[in-house]
Amino acid sequence: MRQAGRSLPEYRELRVGTDMLDACLNPELASEITLQPVRRHGVDAGIFFSDIVIPVRLSGVDVRIVAGRGPVLDDPVRTAADVAALPPLDPAALAPIREAVALTVAQLGATPLIGFAGAPYTLASYLVEGGPSKEQLKTRALMHSDPETWTALLTWCAGITGAFLAAQIEAGASAGQLFDSWAGSLSLADYTAHVAPFSTLALDAVRELDVPLIHFGVGTGELLAAMRDVGVDAVGVDWRLPLDEAVRRVGPDVTVQGNIDPALLRAPWPVLEAHLVDVLRRGQAARAHVLNLGHGVPPDTDPTVLTRIVEFVHAHA
Ligand code: CP3
Repeated sequence: MRQAGRSLPEYRELRVGTDMLDACLNPELASEITLQPVRRHGVDAGIFFSDIVIPVRLSGVDVRIVAGRGPVLDDPVRTAADVAALPPLDPAALAPIREAVALTVAQLGATPLIGFAGAPYTLASYLVEGGPSKEQLKTRALMHSDPETWTALLTWCAGITGAFLAAQIEAGASAGQLFDSWAGSLSLADYTAHVAPFSTLALDAVRELDVPLIHFGVGTGELLAAMRDVGVDAVGVDWRLPLDEAVRRVGPDVTVQGNIDPALLRAPWPVLEAHLVDVLRRGQAARAHVLNLGHGVPPDTDPTVLTRIVEFVHAHA
């Protein structure tokens, strides 16, 4: 999950003096940062250190990550002309990603690596808004006001993000996770008509590679069945919806991923432990359950709490 490594002192030390996106494009550094939480916590899989906006940057669009805020563009993409001017992604530009994944997989041995990408809607929201936004009003207005530009924009996003995910899986990642972090702002009708087809298109780039696919968003309790229907093996669930209820909504043929409440990472251990027991119990309603947090690790999390969660789960699951 985003920022999984950010609570680690060894991560902060490595990142000193290096811009976030530059770190992602340095294969040795990206690989080492990916391995840090795996080594420290003994988790069952690593998630590749990168960012959903990397393929946007690699296409030549001027995007940067501002600490404490997120991806920012000085020149947002809002008109038909802006969308027409979006440059294609040269497949050769993905070389540092392929190299970082290959280096990482070689060192992980039997531990699988999860590759990931941003879903077209979440990427488009950063491009249109010019930065993080709570309700993505400009993005959702564009969706309804100018369907042709919307289609062109989401098709471009699907192409670059699908290529980014394919590069990771081809280089050795064992699973792919599509993050539609902000899809929870959408009605089910808008999601189904104007967003899901482009997420399907993005995943079409990796279907033949035959690895398990996971689909996650925040606040997407109402969308879970539609998110399943883009063609994935697992849905990620945030902390708002109990996993047994999520299983009721998506049916028996889907794996669930989730959903420790990040807020409880700072609660006294007995409170957190009771929560873990509850999450594990509810997860048993599914055919399989991948335990993780319901969203990212807050940067000020005590890393020893994360290690203790892994130890507890390995002992009790
Ligand atoms: O946790 C990991 O290191 C795994 C790799 C990962 C990152 N970003 C690294 C990162 C993953 C899977 C992401 C995905 C991502 N990036 C998403 C989807 C998942 C989610 O959390 O909903 C989104 C929406 C982004 C965009 C983004 N990048 C945001 C909102 C931020 C946070 C900005 C902040 O400082 O609050 C980033 C930066 C980012 N991406 C960091 C990391 C480790 C923090 C960089 C730092 O300050 O050290």
